[in-house]
Amino acid sequence: MLAEWLLSSNYTVVFTGAGMSTESGLPDFRSNHSGLWKKKDPSKIASITALNKNVEEFMEFYRERVIGVKEFGPHEGHFILARWEKQGIIHSIITQNVDGFHQEAGSKRVAELHGTLQKVRCQSCGKEYTSETYVNKKFYCDCGGVLRPNIVLFGEMLPQDAFQFAQEEAEKAELFIVLGSSLTVTPANQFPLIAKEKGAKLVIVNLEPTNLDIYADEVIHGEKIGELLKEIDGYISNE
Ligand code: APR
Repeated sequence: MLAEWLLSSNYTVVFTGAGMSTESGLPDFRSNHSGLWKKKDPSKIASITALNKNVEEFMEFYRERVIGVKEFGPHEGHFILARWEKQGIIHSIITQNVDGFHQEAGSKRVAELHGTLQKVRCQSCGKEYTSETYVNKKFYCDCGGVLRPNIVLFGEMLPQDAFQFAQEEAEKAELFIVLGSSLTVTPANQFPLIAKEKGAKLVIVNLEPTNLDIYADEVIHGEKIGELLKEIDGYISNE
């Protein structure tokens, strides 16, 4: 059915969470046992207070994640989404992920709601560096300020341009497909509801149930995203 909906929709938006990148080798946040927030309290490590009060642990934690996104890369599911954009099957991706894998796979119209681990910036002068600096343990700017990843920490505002783009895309969507998110973090989890309110069909693909399943027109649990995208792609290319 999802393949039929994809083929008949005039404007399809995909919304991804950490579940999109677990098959690349990156942990998500809330899966039992493996999720990052099952081992660390996000408010103590992924917040501005952590950057100010707990800088050593903050840097170690984010250096690990920067190394992770450089060690791993997009899996076949990311490449299928990038090809579907070229084929006009999907029109944009709104992602909560900071790994940059959608762009690395070739997707062009991507809103990174929570920023990116590919860059770091100085907390004092704002100067940007590639996150290679973190790999090389350069944690301070030439001006002496502390360097932090270009991601949105808990308590910070989302980047305005990404937020605006996501808002416009959610409002235009005829079909809005969530891939791999527990949909627990605001304001990102509002976009599926905005799309639904504006008349879109809402599909949620997630191993586990989510908070917004009750609003979805179709829910697919228990199936891995990579497998599902390959299945659908096979069906579409035989159309
Ligand atoms: N296929 C399908 N679903 C998967 C897969 C997979 N291969 N792997 C994991 N999942 C599901 C998990 O069951 C989980 O419910 O993906 C979901 C990921 O949810 P979270 O770990 O909560 O990640 P996410 O929703 O992206 O978190 C949102 O929280 O910490 C912040 O900024 C961080 O962007 C992140 C935000």
